Amino acid sequence: MSALKKEYKRITVKSLIEMKSLGEKISMLTAYDYTMAKIVDGAGVDVILVGDSASNVMAGHETTLPITLDQMIYHASSVVRAIDRALVVVDLPFGTYQSDSKEALRSAIRIMKESGGHAVKLEGGKEIKDSIKKILNAGIPVMGHLGLTPQSIYKFGTYTVRAKEEEEAIRLIEDAKLLERLGCFALVLEKIPASLAQRVAESISIPVIGIGAGGGVDGQVLVLHDMLGMTQEFHPRFLRRYMSLHEKMTSAISEYISDVKSSEFPNENEQY
Ligand code: KIV
Repeated sequence: MSALKKEYKRITVKSLIEMKSLGEKISMLTAYDYTMAKIVDGAGVDVILVGDSASNVMAGHETTLPITLDQMIYHASSVVRAIDRALVVVDLPFGTYQSDSKEALRSAIRIMKESGGHAVKLEGGKEIKDSIKKILNAGIPVMGHLGLTPQSIYKFGTYTVRAKEEEEAIRLIEDAKLLERLGCFALVLEKIPASLAQRVAESISIPVIGIGAGGGVDGQVLVLHDMLGMTQEFHPRFLRRYMSLHEKMTSAISEYISDVKSSEFPNENEQY
């Protein structure tokens, strides 16, 4: 029997807000290319995030900072071509929205026009409020992102849990309320204490989607390549690996190499 409280043919920002009010948890995963997005959408995930984690996962950079707007548009348009149901949210990359709100709007418009994505995500609170306002005024849905914000890694120096101290926790709650007031349709909270994340989810009406933020929020997001066990080096406490795809792929590729070397592949049925 389905655990769903309501079936949605197509997920919109409105569906997510309704899901929160129904107590229906929201599932979100990253994807960066057509083939993976087709599988993720076909499995029924609610939101696909074309995250700037593509900078790490797809391009091998140490941080999310190097990825460009053109590269995000390439990834996002590949994902959009694959989906039938999920809402596609695209990260605005570092350096495309922080300097001024007009540039932020230009960047968001490029994402929407050139990729066909349905919404954008920006990292930060009150320091980027003018950019968020401008983008929202143009009719582009915005997802916020607070807590650990990887684009600011050089400001903090580490990827450790954020907002453990009362002062930072209060600032985070104020930022979450501000994002709700501005009109963001949802908020990602990354790597903060579970009790704080639950407090935020209970004090705002928009859905809060957590990563390393415990179970008291309205939904969860993971990086696809991490939860499938394709990446090996990254093992934070919050990450549940649903497969060991790295091992399975290595074994399949080794078998192929061995079959080629031994002339076992191709056989008579595999040729013309
Ligand atoms: O870029 C990304 O994958 C993200 C998630 C970790 C939320 O922002």
